[in-house]
Amino acid sequence: MKIVFATNNAHKLDEVRQVVGNSFDIVSLRECGITEDIPENEPTLEGNALSKARYIYARTGLDCFADDTGLEVDALGGEPGVRSARYATDGHDDEANKRLLLERLSGTENRAAQFRTAVALILDGEEYLFEGIVRGAIATEQHGEGGFGYDPLFYPEGGDRTFAQMSGEEKNAISHRGRAVRKLAEFLQEKI
Ligand code: IMP
Repeated sequence: MKIVFATNNAHKLDEVRQVVGNSFDIVSLRECGITEDIPENEPTLEGNALSKARYIYARTGLDCFADDTGLEVDALGGEPGVRSARYATDGHDDEANKRLLLERLSGTENRAAQFRTAVALILDGEEYLFEGIVRGAIATEQHGEGGFGYDPLFYPEGGDRTFAQMSGEEKNAISHRGRAVRKLAEFLQEKI
């Protein structure tokens, strides 16, 4: 079964392909000929995931899903949240985002945070939403070389390594996206 994943992020594609396995042919945007940036202007993760999936569906008519992830930091009232990608600048500057996060939390004892992923699926024209959350804490400096985005700053709950210090499999087993995508995969398995 072919299904479009609304991303060109190679890390995300790998993560999702690992979770979903071989039952589905996960196709990236580039592979289905979509090269333009898809707008992400909604005020919520769910809104962004849905609007991306609707865009792909309108363009291709294919079954598709889209995700949107935010890092929600307790001491910052849930920020950067839906603005995680554009926290420091309008571009998508991971280094600047991590620096700003550390700055905003400097001197703050409460480092509790969570990653939250919303996945929107359009299957046979019907819309579905799935959510995955992992609680954890923000480090005081970066650790590890793996992963992407805020991974070097995030200790998942109960662990003493950041996501960037874990293998892809280890991260997937407990991550926000892993959890949301497993729900998606279970749902799809029931449909085929
Ligand atoms: P988006 O879901 O690709 O829009 O991601 C929003 C922001 O969260 C970007 O800054 C990403 O780098 C970051 N992000 C998304 N998923 C992860 C993750 O699994 N680990 C670390 N950062 C992430």
